[in-house]
Amino acid sequence: MEFSSSLYFIALSSVIIFVITTFYGKNFTNIFEISIQQPHQQKQENEKLPFAVGKTEKECDIFNGSWVYDNISRPMFEEHECPFIEKKMMCQAHGRPDKGYQHWRWQPHNCSLPSFNATFMLEKLRGKTMIFVGDSLNRGQFSSMVCLLQRSIPQHAKSFEIHEPRFIFKAKEYNASIEFYWAPFLLESNCDNFYYHRLSDRTVRKGSINVHAQHWKEADILVVDTYIWWMTGLKLKIIQGKGKGEEEMINMEGEDAYRMGLKELVGWVEKNMDPRKTRVFFVTMSPSHPM
Ligand SMILES: *[C@@H]1O[C@H](CO)[C@@H](O)[C@H](O)[C@H]1NC(C)=O
Ligand SMILES: *[C@@H]1O[C@H](CO)[C@@H](O)[C@H](O)[C@H]1NC(C)=O
Ligand SMILES: *[C@@H]1O[C@H](CO)[C@@H](O)[C@H](O)[C@H]1NC(C)=O
Ligand SMILES: *[C@@H]1O[C@H](CO)[C@@H](O)[C@H](O)[C@H]1NC(C)=O
Ligand SMILES: *[C@@H]1O[C@H](CO)[C@@H](O)[C@H](O)[C@H]1NC(C)=O
Repeated sequence: MEFSSSLYFIALSSVIIFVITTFYGKNFTNIFEISIQQPHQQKQENEKLPFAVGKTEKECDIFNGSWVYDNISRPMFEEHECPFIEKKMMCQAHGRPDKGYQHWRWQPHNCSLPSFNATFMLEKLRGKTMIFVGDSLNRGQFSSMVCLLQRSIPQHAKSFEIHEPRFIFKAKEYNASIEFYWAPFLLESNCDNFYYHRLSDRTVRKGSINVHAQHWKEADILVVDTYIWWMTGLKLKIIQGKGKGEEEMINMEGEDAYRMGLKELVGWVEKNMDPRKTRVFFVTMSPSHPM
């Protein structure tokens, strides 16, 4: 079994919340009701984070679990039922003979996750914008989310538009927007073209997070991933300097460049996202997909 692609397709959006790490919201023992601690304010016990839903048993570490084979409640949709998957990512259409990879479900050891309810999710997204940012792994998470939601929306009430690097799905009756923004390094780079980005000579501009991030400000829920593009084993070319004429290009190890990128992301989030109104998720290292 190709576990990488199975994860790619079945690590669906209902699961995404649970395999990622938030920037804020310190206590992860109960993701649904987390007390926000603000240093200079009165402690507000059990204040709900935005978009926190329901309750689960306290003390359940949702990260402690395993993938279980579940051929009853999975898959949650068939590939051919969803018109919004990138053609090149369609395993069945390309003749993949096995189907078992679609049946995996994340099962925490000490509790069960609520099953995905598209209507409920759409209600939560009413009037909101959810933006997935990053590379093809998050593009896959975006597709999964759209596929999970779109089934319960009639044809006339949904739309899908591409304004590269943005991919925008709208649930009109909910005034909800679910988007993907291609920025594999988050910073400005020579790989920013969604269609022509497979360059071996990767060049990233230091201090350029705003080039892309200015388009994420309207997000109520932001899901960011970046990882594999930094880690080729080769050094990256980093452009630094104040302005034209004063720029220099240096070679940097992947790890150092990645650290630089993450610091810029965290700085941007702290400056631009309000933890009382928005949620920011960071997808950590993930298995890649075969393409
Ligand atoms: C499982 O949950 C119970 C309470 O629901 C808690 O007492 C216990 O510590 C938890 N165990 C683990 C390993 O998370
Ligand atoms: C995970 O949960 C199991 C069962 O509740 C427990 O025995 C184990 O110690 C937990 N592992 C970690 C790393 O918390
Ligand atoms: C589901 O999986 C189990 C265990 O692999 C198998 O015994 C059973 O026949 C499967 N059921 C269906 C409907 O595929
Ligand atoms: C899904 O959520 C909707 C809206 O909250 C609710 O009315 C419905 O009963 C839920 N369906 C299931 C199967 O839980
Ligand atoms: C739709 O949502 C946007 C935010 O995404 C908001 O600015 C706008 O007022 C909403 N429109 C309606 C008709 O609710």
